[in-house]
Amino acid sequence: MEKIKVYGRQKVNGSVQISGAKNAALPLFAATLLSDNGMCLKNVPPLADIETMTELLEKLGVVCISKQNSIYDGIVKFKTDEISSFTAPYEVVKKMRASILVLGPLLARFGRCKVSLPGGCAIGVRPIDLHLKGLEALGAKVELKDGYVHASAIDGLKGATFEFPIVTVTGTENILMAATLADGSTILKNAAREPEIVDLANCLNAMGARISGQGTSTITIEGVTSLHYAEYSILPDRIEAGTYAIAAGITRGKVDLLGGNFRELLPTFIEKMEETGMKFTDIENGLRVESCGEIVPTNISTEPFPGFPTDLQAQSMALLAVANGESEICENIWENRFMHVAEFMRMGANITINGSYAHIVGVPTLKGAPVMATDLRASFGLVLAALAAEGDTVIDRVYHLDRGYCCVTEKFAGCGVVVERF
Ligand code: EPZ
Repeated sequence: MEKIKVYGRQKVNGSVQISGAKNAALPLFAATLLSDNGMCLKNVPPLADIETMTELLEKLGVVCISKQNSIYDGIVKFKTDEISSFTAPYEVVKKMRASILVLGPLLARFGRCKVSLPGGCAIGVRPIDLHLKGLEALGAKVELKDGYVHASAIDGLKGATFEFPIVTVTGTENILMAATLADGSTILKNAAREPEIVDLANCLNAMGARISGQGTSTITIEGVTSLHYAEYSILPDRIEAGTYAIAAGITRGKVDLLGGNFRELLPTFIEKMEETGMKFTDIENGLRVESCGEIVPTNISTEPFPGFPTDLQAQSMALLAVANGESEICENIWENRFMHVAEFMRMGANITINGSYAHIVGVPTLKGAPVMATDLRASFGLVLAALAAEGDTVIDRVYHLDRGYCCVTEKFAGCGVVVERF
């Protein structure tokens, strides 16, 4: 199994090209199923999760033609007029929960589909009850049998008003996609407001859908009978950008994040990082992040967008573990997203967990140690801690990292940092 070696006491100083957003690309790949006229996506990040989604689409009969544009991004053309299967099998879904995103499109276009229940993952049970309730609101019949969701809508889906009891990102995406081909109009209330939802809605509109309100809590969709071919470039990954911003903060360095308007994609994150002493300046095609030389403690509470992203929680904990004082992190989205704490403590961090709260007493420095990645974002949290630590760190189970971060060695090399895989 591949490992990553991170030498300690490094300083980030340079620029990083940010790739397309994983959490925008995954629903956009699923959206290709809505049209029999195909689609072309640009700025596709070369990630393991994208390979898994490609494998799933090909099992359904989509022809995916990928072309590498640079090491950081690719272009994918989809041929979608010969869908031959409507089943998303367990062996694919268990690798990646986001496979559940084929449910809405298959149901909307073909009136039937069978998707394996995703099962939990390291950060929590991750139920899909709201996906199913939303589809039933549009007239679908949903049955759970032998670990699979059997959904059907023989007379097609009907527009309806549906209010999400809690904000769900992929839940909103699934129902949004299904509603584009429903008969009549749909109003989604308490919808997720993430930029990735806006990207999906904008792409669907480019394909001929009629969606408005994306980015607010109320999204309106006027159903259409079919969608046409479109070419669309995926928005940059705000979570990758935030992760490399923290790399500059924790190593008391400087980094130019290139490839997007990250100030509007990370409003609360930037506010919080400024409280820790980091400075953010808009530059041509990106954002400059500079450490002020010390790390001031602060308190963080994860919320749906525009609040502080849960996907930057583990990375922020690495930074606060070496702040000059005490901080508190409250994880409100996932019930078990503190697995990285035990690994940080092996490196000498002083963190106490109490339910959804982590109390962090900053220490002058962490010590390099052999550690293990537990989930996608936690794995990068360990890399960040290791960059500033005394001594070297070897991180095991680095496949977690590859699910959501591409070209890590090359991107770090671009800002003067050595991270080795072996
Ligand atoms: C998306 O997951 C992201 N994944 C996650 O990123 C991210 O952490 C999460 O949104 C929150 O921002 C993708 O976009 C592919 P949710 P998702 O449905 O949609 C509960 C990463 O690191 N819930 O918004 O699965 C759920 O248990 C990944 O890139 C239900 O109860 O998250 C959670 O407490 C990790 N019933 C809350 O809602 C449902 O039917 C938010 O989950 C659905 C969700």
